[in-house]
Amino acid sequence: MDTKVKNTETLLSLGQFHISEDCGCILPEPLTDLPLYYKPWMDIARNVPELISSHSLRLRIHNMPLLETHLLRTHCELRLAHLALSMMTVGYVWQEGERETIKVLPRNLSVPFCEVSQRLGLPPILIYTDAVLANWKKRDPDGPFSMENLELLLTLPGGESLRGFFLVTLMVELAAVPGLKSILDVINGIHYNDVAMVTKALDVVSQAIDSMKQAFKLMHDYVDPSIFYGIVRIYLSGWKDNPLMPEGLVYEEVQEKPMEFSGSSAAQSSTLHCFDELLGVQHEGSSGAFLRRMRDYMLPSHKHFIENISSRPSLRSFVLQQADEGLTHTFEQCVARLVDFRNYHINTVTRYITIPASRAKQLRANKQGLPEELDAIRRAPTALEERGTGGSGIMTFLKTVRDKTKDTSISQGSKGNQVLPDPSINTEGCI
Ligand code: HEM
Repeated sequence: MDTKVKNTETLLSLGQFHISEDCGCILPEPLTDLPLYYKPWMDIARNVPELISSHSLRLRIHNMPLLETHLLRTHCELRLAHLALSMMTVGYVWQEGERETIKVLPRNLSVPFCEVSQRLGLPPILIYTDAVLANWKKRDPDGPFSMENLELLLTLPGGESLRGFFLVTLMVELAAVPGLKSILDVINGIHYNDVAMVTKALDVVSQAIDSMKQAFKLMHDYVDPSIFYGIVRIYLSGWKDNPLMPEGLVYEEVQEKPMEFSGSSAAQSSTLHCFDELLGVQHEGSSGAFLRRMRDYMLPSHKHFIENISSRPSLRSFVLQQADEGLTHTFEQCVARLVDFRNYHINTVTRYITIPASRAKQLRANKQGLPEELDAIRRAPTALEERGTGGSGIMTFLKTVRDKTKDTSISQGSKGNQVLPDPSINTEGCI
């Protein structure tokens, strides 16, 4: 049966959730500039790393005019404005690292930022939706999506490592696109009781998760752990559950009471939330609460897509009911690949946060001159040592999320923690 017909019949299409057939949750063709009126914003936003290094970003922002936001008309203009204002905001807040943190965001930044955020339904802070999903352009517009052909629109301190961190993550999102599209076929296949259709679509999801892991491996080639840990990380941090800003941040002339927002984190990517809901992964307790809260840092339409998936009849129950060997195998493989992805992620976090954090402790004791790279680690913010950029206590959280994924396996009940019917998948070596 033609799947397109089925999609129409069940009135579910990616377009209605602002998810693109080609780019998934990534903003297709982000604008590279705003209307001329907004030149004062873009002039600063394009130079945030240089202005931070000369300690003059705060001054430039104080002298920036207070601009109206009603001239921003399209979704793409609003997205670029949010990106630019958020880059300026995190640059303003963290200009001096963990020293001299500020309590108030000045009105010429806070007022337009909150207006733009409200129109998009997003929080007024740098989020994944800005930094990764709406922050790219192709050098050669007709060329491929590749690390060589991609560049960032706006950047922060951290040079090539910062570029690599955002763009490799973009490549991971791209790898997920066929899987996101196939979610609809899984849902429709269940609706029509079509086991072959569900199996085929679920296999695409499973392959997409594997491709995401392959793309993730690029991180090691493009991102230096000491630069990520010592320089990049603080700019991704927020002002919620952050000991550096225990009271949050006052957005001047918006609200007198300080506001608290988590920093940018891939926990705000809709993609993994979609796969979890599809497979029926049950995140509970504080990890579940953190992940649910992260949905408020997504575009409302993407959050609705996740909720729509979770409101549909359960795939896991369908697999159990049908007791079809091929379908069960594909489901198990899909869960196993998600566990594998999360194990790979945990290893990466060990390399980029846990190891540099313990190195930083050693190095701080050492007063002698150090090569630039090691010095970056030594000077990294001490208050963030145990925390992720979203503010989570990292390892307990990530392992709980991984274990809940394992629990989704159908063989889980009878075989304890064994979820891997497919020997080609390696989950060894994770911490
Ligand atoms: C150097 C690379 C990375 C580091 C150091 C890192 C670090 C972290 C940390 C510390 C968390 C805990 C939540 C928080 O407080 O932010 C987290 C969560 C998460 N990250 Fe990453 N991350 C990296 C790359 C990625 C990439 C490329 C993806 C894929 C798009 C990703 C997907 C996730 C997801 C989905 C979560 C939520 C937990 C889960 O669903 O398993 N991360 N990450």
